[in-house]
Parts: sequence; structure tokens; C-alpha cells
Amino acid sequence: MDRLSGPARLMIVSDLDSTMVDHQDPENLSLLRFNALWEANYRHDSLLVFSTGRSPTLYKQLRKEKPMLTPDITIMSVGTEITYGESMVPDDGWENVLNQKWDRKIVTEETASFPQLKFQSETEQRPHKVSFYVEKEHARQVMKDLSARLEKRGLDVKIIYSGGMDLDVLPQGAGKGQALAYLLKKFKSDGKPPTNTLVCGDSGNDAELFSIPEVYGVMVSNAMEELLQWREENAKNNSNIIHATERCAAGIIQAIGHFRLGTNTSPRDVIDFSRCKTENLSAGYEVVKFYMLYERWRRAEVANSELHIQNLKKIYYPTGIIVHPSGIERSLHECINALASFYGDKQGKKFRVWVDRLSSAQIGSDTWLVKFNKWESSDEGNHCCLATVLLSSKPETQNGFIWVHMHQTWLDGFGARNQIAWLF
Ligand code: GLC
Ligand code: MG
Repeated sequence: MDRLSGPARLMIVSDLDSTMVDHQDPENLSLLRFNALWEANYRHDSLLVFSTGRSPTLYKQLRKEKPMLTPDITIMSVGTEITYGESMVPDDGWENVLNQKWDRKIVTEETASFPQLKFQSETEQRPHKVSFYVEKEHARQVMKDLSARLEKRGLDVKIIYSGGMDLDVLPQGAGKGQALAYLLKKFKSDGKPPTNTLVCGDSGNDAELFSIPEVYGVMVSNAMEELLQWREENAKNNSNIIHATERCAAGIIQAIGHFRLGTNTSPRDVIDFSRCKTENLSAGYEVVKFYMLYERWRRAEVANSELHIQNLKKIYYPTGIIVHPSGIERSLHECINALASFYGDKQGKKFRVWVDRLSSAQIGSDTWLVKFNKWESSDEGNHCCLATVLLSSKPETQNGFIWVHMHQTWLDGFGARNQIAWLF
């Protein structure tokens, strides 16, 4: 990836449904914990890869529903579509690999004679993926017969059963594992193999990820029987793979600690930031920490103490200003005063704040320019703005940074209607 100048310190390759995203956690707390950890401690030198069975359509839908970060690389449709960056630029080289011994027309012709196979929705039928539902008791037999038929017709396919109901037919060279192997090979040939890679999954289509050499793996606590059985049969004694005791993203955080891949204390788990270890002090950590305090203040999850306000004033440059998305300028200290009166306005309500795509550059001996997307989700929906902050590092202060200037731009046109309530 061009974003990093050297090899990634950690590359996380994670499935989404029931791995990164917990559909049984309406508050998305473990996902938000992961997000804060990633942006504060990993974004600047590591790579986040999402590897999902979903098509681009359903993937984009999930991103609207859940507070997900923007990955560096998105692998969709069970390892058949690889894209890069926020704008999702496709990897054409991968598509060429998949065209070998593949003809989706022959697949649909042959599958038509299996009454047990029910087509999934149109969005999930992709150039290199044909997907069905099949009842558990028929799965094994159908897979066996279908693969014999397709082989006879000259195709080399891979049939994957997942989630106790989904059956995907893909080219033999496709799949989540092959897509990861392709990426690793690419990084190696660029001289930038990741120092560590952690794969994360919960169901059948994730199994291949765990068979890639030299990767660490976590099967989240809620992993499905089909994946645990695969482990039993194929990787029983592999100590680089764990079955976490925590669900979904919390299991991923647990694995980062278990394999000693770096810090696994999310800023969301820190109650008292004044006791934070100085090794955590980075521009990214500073921004994530501030929005953590901001969220807790408005949710009334910290004490309503003048001390917090005084401490915030200490970290804001006395003549620093904030340019609101609306174009209005206010002094940072004025904004802090305004914040004081918002204590607890979101108490007992839906209100979460998270940071995405944080990047920072040192532009002087003690000056940092930080850019990020700031998201707020509340009863009124999700809203995002692009923010740029100028920070000055002051290692002699307890905090380590002074906020000098901030500029925000709406990314969703929400602002005009809500200028007054907008604080940071
Ligand atoms: C996702 C896809 C579906 C696929 C399943 C298992 O749910 O939407 O098409 O069959 O993953 O890979
Ligand atoms: Mg899953």
C-alpha cells in the first residue's frame, strides 16, 4: 500500500459479519473499542483489511448500518474482488487470475438441475461467484455431486459452505485464503511484507485464511461449528491459531494481546487518561482521547467537574481558533466554555463519537498536522466531518500536546441545519 512507506507493523485481515461486526451488540461497543485502538495506535503504520463474503452492494449497506472504519484493502464476494483505499480501486490483476478455467454460464447450467439449491439475491451473484442457499442436511452430498459435474465440464471450481446455509461456487484460485496469499506475495515482491499478520474469522468461508503460512489467527468465541471442526481436522496443534473467549471484535483485541502483536488497551478501556503511559503519546492517540472525553462528557460518564474543563483549557492554545464547517470562526476556549454547558445532554441517549482514517505528519520540530474523519452517531443519524488539527508537542506537560488550530468540513451536508449544536 502506498499509504505506508515501509512494511506494515501489523496487518489485520478480518471477516465482517459476526467477526468484526457483532449483530447481537446493538451498541456496537466492541467494534467501537477496536476502532479507537486502531486509530490511536495502529493506523499510522499498519494495514486494515476487511475480507467479507458480501458483494460490494451488501458491504456498502453494512458500512451505513455499523460504525465501521475505512479499511486499506477491501476483499469482497468471498475473495473474488479486491479493492484498494477509500475509493475502492479494483485490482485488475486478481480478476485475470480468476478467469482461469472459469465459466459462470456452465456453473448456472449445471446447478439448475439441483432442486436443493436456491439462488441467493441478484446482488450476491458476481462475475466470479455464484451463490445459493442449501439446507444443512443436503450440503455435503450436493457439494460432492456438483463438483463432479463441473469437473466433467472442464471447470476447476471451489465450493464453500458457510454459516450452515450458504453455498458459494468460485473459481479454484479464488477464496479468502487465496486472495490473502496473492496480497502477501505482492507485498513481498515490493519488499514490504507485513511484520505480523493476524487473520480473524467465525465461519466456513474464513477457514482458508487460517491455512496461510506464517499468519496468526483468531477464531472468535462465537465461531461456528463448521470452522471449529475445520480447526480440529486441519490445525489442531497449531499454536498460532486461537479460539478466543471473547466475541467478535473483542476477540480480535484479545488475540492482539495473546500473540503480543502490540498494545491491546483501547482508549475506550482507559478510565483515567492522566495515568496513561507516555509510550502511548502520539498525535493519533491525542485526538482519539479527546473525542473519548467529549463523548463521555456529553453522556455524563465522567464527573461534572470544573477540573475537566480547566484541564481542557490547558491543552488548548489560548489564541487558537476552530473554523466550523459552516465557516464560522470561534476561539478554542469559547468552544470549551460552550462544551461545559452541554454536560450530560446525551445522557441515556444514543450518542457515540469515533474517528476514522486518521493520518498525521510532523511538519516542524514540535508541530504535527493531523487529519481525520470524525463521526457522531445519535438519534438523528450518523454524521461525518473531515477535520484538520494543528498540534504542538509539549513533552514537558502531562498531556504532551497543545491544540493550536482546528478546521472542519462537512462531508454529508448535515451541518447547515445543526450549526448551533456543533461543538467540536
Ligand atoms: C455473505 C454473502 C453470501 C455468501 C456468504 C457466505 O453472506 O452475502 O453471498 O454466500 O457470505 O460466503
Ligand atoms: Mg462471518
